[in-house]
Amino acid sequence: MDKNIKVNKERLISRLDELAQIGALEGGEDFPTLFDGVSRLALSDADRQARDLTVSWMRSLSLTIHIDQVGNMIGIRPGEEELPPVLLGSHIDTVTVAGRYDGSYGVMAALEAINVLNDQKVNTRRPLGVAAFTNEEGVRYTPGMLGSTVYVGKLPVAEALATRGFDGSTFSQELDRIGYAGPMKPGAIHPYAFLELHIEQGPLLDQQNIPIGVVETVTGITWLEATVTGTANHAGTTPIDLRRDAGLAAAKLIKSLREIALSIGGNQRATCGMIAFEPNAINVIPGKAILTIDLRNSDGDALIRAEELLHTRAKEIEDSDGVSISVRPLEHVLPVEFDPIVVDAIEQAANELGISSRRMISGAGHDAQLMAGICPTAMIFIPSRNGISHSPAEYSSAEELETGANVLLYAALKLANQKG
Ligand code: GLV
Ligand code: MN
Ligand code: MN
Repeated sequence: MDKNIKVNKERLISRLDELAQIGALEGGEDFPTLFDGVSRLALSDADRQARDLTVSWMRSLSLTIHIDQVGNMIGIRPGEEELPPVLLGSHIDTVTVAGRYDGSYGVMAALEAINVLNDQKVNTRRPLGVAAFTNEEGVRYTPGMLGSTVYVGKLPVAEALATRGFDGSTFSQELDRIGYAGPMKPGAIHPYAFLELHIEQGPLLDQQNIPIGVVETVTGITWLEATVTGTANHAGTTPIDLRRDAGLAAAKLIKSLREIALSIGGNQRATCGMIAFEPNAINVIPGKAILTIDLRNSDGDALIRAEELLHTRAKEIEDSDGVSISVRPLEHVLPVEFDPIVVDAIEQAANELGISSRRMISGAGHDAQLMAGICPTAMIFIPSRNGISHSPAEYSSAEELETGANVLLYAALKLANQKG
């Protein structure tokens, strides 16, 4: 391996900058952060523009572009032999008020890795590809990681296309509207291996001053929607003991999330991130509350226990508060152990480049955890300053971004040139 082949930091940063202009938030007083944030929801106009730009870069690198029926985009650089490709990728959609690195970094670094190989006229035995999956974040359409879930055959195309968004939109209509309903059958390109480079989105690498995380395990995720139904009534005239207060019951359910997380322990997480009251008026007892629940654990059995505890608690609140609570599943993703050979390849690449690394667990969901179901897969993390992400304050330095991209490049070369 020729250690003189390195990614071009300026070009990587300039692509990230250009992409971050699409859906850029105003910044200023609302977000007095280091960098202004981005809002690029899946299948929005901003997503379309970001896709157009990404595809134009794929074209300029002479990649053969394939768009599948749910809008996943894959650009392939041929290998010396006609073999399954090593795919590098992530996503370019964002949460509602996001930073500029989550997802985008993995796609831009993959483009940069291929750019260097083109410039240096380096061929690989297997083809190399860049993948950008649709609707990874899941804030517009659930499940999150929808594109990769369809790609690996865990969600039928028709079901994905029929998905209704939180904003009332329909996935297929929006996909058609932005012009990214492609002809390829999801999964038609079966990778030899998949690598996803991503910011850590947690504090460990930053705290420990370690430039590279080699991800061995990704958390399991359970998303639920709870609907609490009580009786809407006058806030002043209804005696306390006669209330069926959906708002109070929802609050008790939210409080139980923390109790469940603490009682399960380990790395159990439990979050309510969205809530809506009806009728949502200052002087009316809520008749209904709809809330989302995000449960995560890298231990699948513990995650199931957490969900069981939640159902038990919901029953108790029904009895004590005279409300009814129905819980609807939105997403179940199992924890994943990545492929030891790919994990080793990443670790060796960092080693050979003289970069220190540590093995770790991802608490965020990633397309890689779906891809792991169809091919050997692993992930590379770089530090997130103060562990902040899903926020405009998300930040990794240019040097950290460059280091991660070099590790991606060398791990990809190892896999692409592997014998057998
Ligand atoms: C996606 O970023 C998730 O972990 O929810
Ligand atoms: Mn991401
Ligand atoms: Mn994210």
